[in-house]
Amino acid sequence: MTVPTFPPGFLWGASASAFQTEGAADADGKGPSGWDAFAAQPGRIKDGTDTSRGTGFHERYREDVALLAGLGADAFRFSVSWPRVVPGGSGAVNPAGLDFYDRLVDELCAHGITPAPTLYHWDTPLPLDEAGGWLNRDTAYRFAEYAGIVAERLADRVPMWITINEPAEVTMLGYALGEHAPGRTLLFDALPAAHHQLLAHGLGVRALRAAGATEIGVAVSHTPVWTAGESEEDRFGAELYDTLTNWMFADPILTGRYPDENFAALMPGPVDDDLRTISTPLDWYGVNYYNPTLVGAPRADALETFSGFGMPAELPFGIREIEGYEKTDFGWPVVPDGLRETLVQLQARYGDRLPPLYITENGCAVDEAVTDTRRIAFLEGHLGALRTAIDAGVDVRGYFTWSLTDNVEWIEGASKRFGLVHIDYETLRRTPKESYAWYRDVIRSQKAAR
Ligand code: NOJ
Repeated sequence: MTVPTFPPGFLWGASASAFQTEGAADADGKGPSGWDAFAAQPGRIKDGTDTSRGTGFHERYREDVALLAGLGADAFRFSVSWPRVVPGGSGAVNPAGLDFYDRLVDELCAHGITPAPTLYHWDTPLPLDEAGGWLNRDTAYRFAEYAGIVAERLADRVPMWITINEPAEVTMLGYALGEHAPGRTLLFDALPAAHHQLLAHGLGVRALRAAGATEIGVAVSHTPVWTAGESEEDRFGAELYDTLTNWMFADPILTGRYPDENFAALMPGPVDDDLRTISTPLDWYGVNYYNPTLVGAPRADALETFSGFGMPAELPFGIREIEGYEKTDFGWPVVPDGLRETLVQLQARYGDRLPPLYITENGCAVDEAVTDTRRIAFLEGHLGALRTAIDAGVDVRGYFTWSLTDNVEWIEGASKRFGLVHIDYETLRRTPKESYAWYRDVIRSQKAAR
């Protein structure tokens, strides 16, 4: 094994989310989410997967907790489905929904696994989406209410919390480009959706603390942006993309400012007051890392988003293919050093203002059913890069791989497999892959080395 030793106390985990795994989309009083409605529209899910079954996690969570225990995992990052807990988005709480997370948390605790719930992993209650979703400021207040409700119930047993997941993807894919729910194609008019998610995060941190929650963080996607060429247009395109995907989210949370006054001016509401809320101090900051992005001026041969759709010609940047690296079966370049690059960049940008970090997601889609040697190579490379970042002085406290099991990869349906455990979508049978045994051995040897 060529995984370096990590500092004592380093947390080893795996991640998942509600929409991608739970199924039981209308069981026990759960309300519909914007994603349930979006996925039901013909043609939205590329391979036609019926996403309402997920991986059957709602029924089979005990099996998956046993798999986590078999791994020796310290922690499990799952998400709470907002419409399972508050079906209407506001108002009445669904007791059966809260009971489910209560049982899940108890099951994890009984196995000595730290529950690390994310409160928003993209499944907005449908009535809120119908009232404008994240374009509507009210959604942020409804989120804070719901966060408080969940914490009131679980904070006695949950020692680690995540407010929201990847607001950049929700803004870009859901509101700017229309590839994800709620399918809006607003381009730059989508910016209010970013601001309101950030506001929800800040209000959420406060609501969680008020309800007794500790160790509160957030999961933000980070991609090192590489500039495709030397021209002024290339540089402009890359810088704008970098701002829109990385710093428009990290800066407000960590510094209380937008990266650029021009962006701040485009945001709705009392922005300065909101920024004070958004930058409520965090206990830790979560980084989701998959790959770097090569960006330049828009060009006819580059007009493709990473989901494989046409990139609208109005956008002043274009994403290019990164050549010279192996690709996952999603077509994403495998660049372990990009993880080190991102972490070192965060440390340099924020210095003392950067709280301890966790890697809240990292993993790859490969088609190999059970003999997933490419996943093992991917994870090994990224853990090596992570150790290099720690050696360079970045305070990283733990690593959650994406994902424990194969799951519904949003519009890709069941066709992209990120799991350490294979799911047969006919029978919902779980079969650990070789990467599962490999990760178990990594965790074991790390603990033995302490
Ligand atoms: C990030 C998202 O948080 C997760 O839901 C998704 O499955 C992975 N990226 C892989 O695309």
